[in-house]
Amino acid sequence: MTNDKQQIDRALSLMDRVFGFREFRPWQKEILKSVLSGEDALVIMPTGGGKSLSNEQA
Ligand SMILES: Nc1ncnc2c1ncn2[C@@H]1O[C@H](COP(=O)(O)OP(=O)(O)O)[C@@H](O)[C@H]1O
Ligand SMILES: [Mg+2]
Repeated sequence: MTNDKQQIDRALSLMDRVFGFREFRPWQKEILKSVLSGEDALVIMPTGGGKSLSNEQA
């Protein structure tokens, strides 16, 4: 079973490879952790905050 850190590192390298971004925007990591652990997430952030990209990663 992969742990939290491995999953986050994997998501970071995937985001870098696909989008060329090396750091999460505020709250993207929390969103990812929540969804990867099987929870649903209701995310309220402004347009341009990074919701759609979080969705791609999950
Ligand atoms: N971690 C990140 N680092 C740099 N740019 C990012 C990151 N996450 C998203 N972006 C960019 O910011 C912009 C807005 O992101 P997006 O996911 O479309 O936001 P939203 O869906 O909340 O409007 C897009 O151009 C996207 O590629
Ligand atoms: Mg969007």
